[in-house]
Amino acid sequence: MPGHKRNPAFEAGFLPVKQDITEITGFDDLHHAEDIIKNAQDFAAELFGSREVFFSVNGSTAAILSAVSAAVRRGGKLLTARNCHKSLYHAMYLREIVPVYIYPGIDRETGICCSIDPEETERLLSENDDIEAVFITSPTYDGAVSDIRAIAEAAHRHSVPLIVDEAHGAHFCFSPYFPESAVRSGADIVIHSIHKTLPSMTGTSVLHRCTDRISHDKIARFMSIYQTSSPSYPMMASLDFCFHFLKDQGKIWFDAFTSRLEQLRNGLSQFQKIRLMDFYGAEYRKQKGFYDFDRSKILLSADCVKGGGAGLFRILQEKYLLEPEMSAYNYVLMMTTMGDTEEGFRRLYEAVSDLENHPEIFISANMDELSQKRSDFTERISERPEPVMRISEAMDSETAALPLDQCVGRISAEFMYLYPPGVPLIVPGERISLQFVQNMKRYVSAGMKIAGIRDCSGKYMDCVV
Ligand SMILES: Cc1ncc(COP(=O)(O)O)c(C=O)c1O
Repeated sequence: MPGHKRNPAFEAGFLPVKQDITEITGFDDLHHAEDIIKNAQDFAAELFGSREVFFSVNGSTAAILSAVSAAVRRGGKLLTARNCHKSLYHAMYLREIVPVYIYPGIDRETGICCSIDPEETERLLSENDDIEAVFITSPTYDGAVSDIRAIAEAAHRHSVPLIVDEAHGAHFCFSPYFPESAVRSGADIVIHSIHKTLPSMTGTSVLHRCTDRISHDKIARFMSIYQTSSPSYPMMASLDFCFHFLKDQGKIWFDAFTSRLEQLRNGLSQFQKIRLMDFYGAEYRKQKGFYDFDRSKILLSADCVKGGGAGLFRILQEKYLLEPEMSAYNYVLMMTTMGDTEEGFRRLYEAVSDLENHPEIFISANMDELSQKRSDFTERISERPEPVMRISEAMDSETAALPLDQCVGRISAEFMYLYPPGVPLIVPGERISLQFVQNMKRYVSAGMKIAGIRDCSGKYMDCVV
C-alpha cells in the first residue's frame, strides 16, 4: 500500500496546494453533497454498480464506524466475525454494542483465518432473534474471501442487513481474475479502502449503500459525525481521479496487471523452499475451508527460513530492497496492485529464485516437526474466552496494569492480537484464563509480535479492578 505505489502514471501533482480548497462557492460540501461532490459520488456508484456512494476522507475506519452505528441501536446486538479490524471493535465500544461472534476456522498449516461459514451464521441468527445486523470482513488481510451471497441470504431471511468490510477488495470490481465483489453479491453495505489496492491517496475510502435496508439519512448522519468538518479536497479529487481513470483505462491496466500477476504466481510456484502458498485450486480451497481467495495477495511460506516470517521479511527488505506488507509467524505477505511494474515483479521473482541457492538462510528441520509445531500453535490460538461484560463497560472501568501471572481470572480491559490469524485473542470484558496467560508467555518467548496491548513486551496487561 498505497495502491499507486508511487508509479508516475498516477501522479496527481506533488503537494497539491493549488487544489487544497474548502467549501467555497461552486465546490459543494461533502456533508450536504448536492453538486460536484454528489456528481463524483454518483459516478463512483455507477462505476461499481452500487445504489449510492459516500466518500470518506478518514479511511474505511470512518465508514465502518458509520455503518455499524447506523445499523445497530445503542446497546443493541451485532453478529460479527471475530476476525475484524479494530474499527469494528471501536464502533462496538462507542455504541455499547453487544457482540455475538462467528469464529472463523483457522488453517492448521498456516494459522490464517478461513472463510466465514454461512451455516454457522444462520445458526447464530436463529439462536439470537434480537440481532440487528451481521458484519464480516471479506477479503481478510491475507486474502480469504467468504460466500457473501449465502451469508446475505441468511441475514435477509432473518430480516437484518449484512455489512461487508471489503476494505482490501476494492479491485474486485475491475477484473474477473478476482472474486466477485460483495457490492454485486447481495450485501447491503460494503466498505472499500480505495487507497489500499487502487490508485488513490492514503486515507481515501468509500461506503457503498447497495440496498435500502439501511437508510441514506442514517448513514449520512454518522458519516458527518465520524469525519472532519473540513474534508480534504485533494483527497476527494484523488478519489474522483481514480474512478475516472478506472472508467477510461481500467480494463487495459487490469488486463496487464492480472496477466503479469499470473505469470509471477506461476514462476513463484516452482520454488520448493520459499513456497508460494496457493489457496486458489477449487478442491484445495474446499478442503481448507476457503470459499475463495484473492490472488493479488502473494503469501510466501517462511517455514524453512531461519527466523520464520520476520527473517524472510528482513532479507527481502535489506538484501533485495523489496517492501513486504507484513510478516507473520511462518510467512510473508506481499501485496500487489495495478500500480506494480513489470520490473517490480521481476525483482521479486529473482529474489526468491536467488534465495533458493542460499542454504545458509534455511533451517534443517524435519517437516513432521514443523507441522507438529504449526498444529500446536493453531491449537493455542483457538481458545474462545468467556465474555463477562460489555467492551464499553470494561474499557470505561477503573483498570490497572498487572503482571501476567496476577491476571488469571480477571477481566481484560484491553485487546490482544497476533498475526496470523489477526483475530483478537482477547477483547475488553472477557475473562483472562490460565491457558491464555500460558499461551501469552509462549508467544513472548517465541519472539512473536503481540499487538493491541499497551505493554508490547507482554509482561503486563490492563485489567478491570
Ligand atoms: C480489514 C480492514 N478493515 C478496515 C481497515 C481500516 O481501513 P482504513 O485504513 O482505510 O481506515 C483496515 C486497515 O488496515 C483493514 O485491514
